[in-house]
Amino acid sequence: MARHTIILDCDPGQDDAIALLLALASPDEIELLAVTAVAGNVPLRLTEGNARRVLTLAGRSEVPVHVGCDRPLLRPLETAEYVHGATGLDGAELPPPAAGPAPGHAADAMIALVMSRPAGTVTLCATGPLTNLALALRKEPRLAERLAGIVLMGGAIELGNVTPAAEFNIYVDPHAADIVFGCAAPITMFGLDVTHKVLVTEPRLRAIEAIGTPVARAAAGLLDFYSRFDRDRYGEPGGPLHDPCVIAHLVDPSLFRGKACPVMIEREGVCAGRTVVDWWNMHRHPPTATVMRDVDADRFFKLLTERLARL
Ligand code: RIB
Ligand code: CA
Repeated sequence: MARHTIILDCDPGQDDAIALLLALASPDEIELLAVTAVAGNVPLRLTEGNARRVLTLAGRSEVPVHVGCDRPLLRPLETAEYVHGATGLDGAELPPPAAGPAPGHAADAMIALVMSRPAGTVTLCATGPLTNLALALRKEPRLAERLAGIVLMGGAIELGNVTPAAEFNIYVDPHAADIVFGCAAPITMFGLDVTHKVLVTEPRLRAIEAIGTPVARAAAGLLDFYSRFDRDRYGEPGGPLHDPCVIAHLVDPSLFRGKACPVMIEREGVCAGRTVVDWWNMHRHPPTATVMRDVDADRFFKLLTERLARL
C-alpha cells in the first residue's frame, strides 16, 4: 500500500470537508502536510475558517491552514451559496476553530513544502478553483517537475454544472486551470462524469449517520444539506459527492477507472471553463491528464463510511 504525502487545496464546502475528513482518517495512506484555502464555494474568509473548523472537529487543529487567493486570477469571483448555504458548511454546527491560520500565503506554502522535500514525494490535491496552484506554478517554475502529481476535482467530459459547458471549479478560474493543465506534473482529473456516479443516497447517508460519533453526525448533516440542490436539480436519488473522490483515489486506486487524454481549457466566451477532453484523441495531441470516468460506488461509500467511523 502506497503512502502519499499531500497538500490539500480546497474551498470548504461540505464535500471538501468530507474529503479532508477522509484524508485525516487514513494515516496509513495519507500524510497531510498542510491545507491551503482558496475562494470558491464561498468567499475566502469563510473557506479558510471552515477548513480550520473541520480540522478542529477531527481533533487535528495542529495541521496548518494557509490562506490563499481571495479571487480568481482574472475573472471576478463567483460563489455557490445556492448549493452550500451562506456559511459554506450549512447542515451541521461545527466547533469554532482551535487554531488560527498559519503564516504565509498558500502559494508560498505550497512552494516551500514541495521544494524542501525530495522530488516526486509530494502530491498536490485540489478540490476547489485552481488559483492558488496556478500562482505557485508561476512563482516557482521548478514546482511542476518537483511534484509527484496533481490530483484534482474539476471539469467534465460531458455537461457542466454551472453552465452547459463548464464545471464550477474550472469555471470560476479558467485561466488558472489552463496554467495547471499546461504544467509538467502528472495530472489525475476527477470530473463530473465520475463524481456523478457517487451519489449520496438515503441509505448511504443513514449508514454514515448511524456511526453515531460527533464527526459522523456532523458529516451526515453536511451531506444531507449539500445533496439537496443537485438531487432536486437532476432528479437523482442523491447528490454527487465530488471532492472525496480525490482522496479515495489515493487511498484505494482500484476504485476508479479512466484513461490518459489530452485536455484543453476554454478560457473565454460562452464555453469559458470548459475542459475539452479529447477522449478519442481526435487531435492526435499528447495526453495531459488521466481522466477518470468510472467508479465502484458501493466500495467507495463502504470505504468512506468505514474511515469516518475512525475519527
Ligand atoms: O463542481 C463541484 C465542485 O465545485 C466541488 O469541488 C464543489 O466543492 C465545488 O467546489
Ligand atoms: Ca470544492
